[in-house]
Amino acid sequence: MTKLKVDFGETKLETRIQGTGTLRFCTTLSPSFALFALDLEDDIDYGSYFELEGIVMEQGKTKILDVMLTRKDGWTKDMIDDLMGDMMTTGNRTICVSGYPERREEKFNDKTNIFFVHAVDIKLLEADKVYKAEPPQEDSDVPTTDPSANVNTKTATNTDANTNTAESNKVEDDTSLENGHHKHHNKRPGNKRPKNSDRGANDNSRFAKLAFFLLSEFGGYDGLGSLPVLDVAGGSGGLAFELVFKHQLPCTVVDTRPVQFSAGQKKHLEFRNQSHDALDSIGKDKTTPLVENLKGRFQAGTSDDGLLRQLQTLLETESVLKGLPSSKIRKRADFVEANEKLRELLKEQRCSVLVGLHPDQATDPIMDIGFALNLPWVVIPCCVFPNLFKQRQLEPSGKLVRTYDDLCEYILQQHPSVKETTLPFRGRNRVFYWKPAPSNDE
Ligand SMILES: C[S@@+](CC[C@H](N)C(=O)[O-])C[C@H]1O[C@@H](n2cnc3c(N)ncnc32)[C@H](O)[C@@H]1O
Repeated sequence: MTKLKVDFGETKLETRIQGTGTLRFCTTLSPSFALFALDLEDDIDYGSYFELEGIVMEQGKTKILDVMLTRKDGWTKDMIDDLMGDMMTTGNRTICVSGYPERREEKFNDKTNIFFVHAVDIKLLEADKVYKAEPPQEDSDVPTTDPSANVNTKTATNTDANTNTAESNKVEDDTSLENGHHKHHNKRPGNKRPKNSDRGANDNSRFAKLAFFLLSEFGGYDGLGSLPVLDVAGGSGGLAFELVFKHQLPCTVVDTRPVQFSAGQKKHLEFRNQSHDALDSIGKDKTTPLVENLKGRFQAGTSDDGLLRQLQTLLETESVLKGLPSSKIRKRADFVEANEKLRELLKEQRCSVLVGLHPDQATDPIMDIGFALNLPWVVIPCCVFPNLFKQRQLEPSGKLVRTYDDLCEYILQQHPSVKETTLPFRGRNRVFYWKPAPSNDE
């Protein structure tokens, strides 16, 4: 018997799982997100794909196949409408589905994991009708309607994933921070700033993708569940929204800008509310593990339950590390101005990881403070500020850090165990992260 191994948070895009059965329920949660489930036929050899290594599959016993259709997988609104219409028609109850599997860690109900397929081909056997997903859109701009849709950072590849090299070698203009806003200066003809779209600043999928990266690198829901992620330079709270509302994880934003959710984010919360009700109406006799999973997620995501906090201040090396023996401060400290709460929170190590997504002037403080206080950090650098940070030098040449590529190299040089990966969003998507060595090795 072939065993298929699917890790937590993993999707197997190339694998196909096929099942035939009778429609258990179907529901459309948004124009681009629908679910249905099949009661599988008896004679199917479900062991070959349900017996996943290390996982006890509830579906294996009950023979239920949960199926998801999303725009990301190539299901358009019209296709979903037609399919759901056909499925509801009496007589079209026997269905054959082929799709790729996804496994999720379960946080929102008592099962330990969830396994389902993303449909690629659907055959309505009585009607002799076939629906096929269009080629998947890897990196759609449209925020996913499935709040828990996954990103497999281990295998995801994206042609946009690596920032254009010419752009990344440009020396950048400085900007200075005034009351938390950027004041542009030093604009000379021929020294054009890269457009925001080049930097990925308008690719809002970065927040969800980073949230999943954090979950996969920092111990899943257990690892991030008790202490807040410190979202440094979090701006209006894009990452915080993902962590708090979509994953029910605590997050504290450190930025002078106030957290302010957009109309789109508020609408998304409404969608979750309505979806919860739609799933609830499926009823106890027809429910499935995926339905229960999503119900939990949607319900959890409508209130922050005190998980979201904000410290409206700057993260600055000196103000946080003040009072520590100077030997613990391994880099220069440029900034002043303390914030008691932030300092206490960090010194008592009451955060799980320091995160900086395009953190501008907070890049060095995140690393400094992480190293000094033995707290893991993640930095996705963006702007360089060569005139502001004149002390940044590359080793061994002593070259000053003037370009994005220089800045990435500089970050890598901060410690031999700084790791690098990329996330599949447009623009500046190189991710650097560091974890302290386990205490007995120190
Ligand atoms: C380019 S925005 C990124 C915002 C958000 N992370 C995102 O990806 O949309 C940079 C943010 O860094 C903040 N910032 C700059 N220096 C900071 C510091 N030392 N501490 C906290 N926030 C800082 C600014 O206020 C601004 O909101």
